[in-house]
Amino acid sequence: MTALPVPVIAIDGPSGVGKGTACGHLSSRLGFKLLDSGSLYRLVGLACEWDGVSLDDDAGCTEVARALDASFEHANGRLRVWMNDREVSALIRTEKAGQDASKVAVNQGVRDALLDWQRHAAKWPGLVADGRDMGTVVFPNAGLKIFLDASTEERARRRHQQLLDSGQSVTLAAVLEEMRERDVRDRTREAAPLEAAQDAKILDTSTLTLDAMLGQVDQWADEYLSNLGN
Ligand code: DC
Repeated sequence: MTALPVPVIAIDGPSGVGKGTACGHLSSRLGFKLLDSGSLYRLVGLACEWDGVSLDDDAGCTEVARALDASFEHANGRLRVWMNDREVSALIRTEKAGQDASKVAVNQGVRDALLDWQRHAAKWPGLVADGRDMGTVVFPNAGLKIFLDASTEERARRRHQQLLDSGQSVTLAAVLEEMRERDVRDRTREAAPLEAAQDAKILDTSTLTLDAMLGQVDQWADEYLSNLGN
């Protein structure tokens, strides 16, 4: 394993657990770059749709992932994304885009195609990486690995509230069903399944307030960064 050029904080966990919030908070507070790896899989799913490639066509999806033409911009805690010069920030955030991302993510060829893209995000002054396999596959030598978890019911409740807040009408039962389906696929796939790295700090956020979760993440990050170079 080669040494990383900058400090990397890897945060993994299932969907709806609050990784995005934790990573956005930490990257703003530390002034670090942010890698939202899920958005890459979401883009591949969308690009397959645009190109008429079926999500179970492994070779076709791999080609699409290799040819991905995307750019990102972080401003005011918000990620904006373009693909083929078209802004797709909202298009990749739908529940369908999440399901499609989870389907293309089982494909090892797609995962390999996205590996360099993700590793190149480790730039000065440091990186906070959000995903499912940040601590296990993409950055196995990250200095701090955190695995956030929460019960499926609690994650579905939070996601449901987010969707209602953003004006989408959907039932809690439908969100719970989709989340169960995505969890099973993400955890049981052969290629880089969702799991905590052996050296990850595990935090169950089911009964934690947002502030308590962020407080614990901040504390771990501060300990890690203050020990660098010792
Ligand atoms: O974090 P997210 O909801 O945007 O991720 C969407 C899907 O992409 C997720 O269900 C599985 C896949 N994914 C992955 O396999 N590996 C990652 N590092 C990030 C996301």
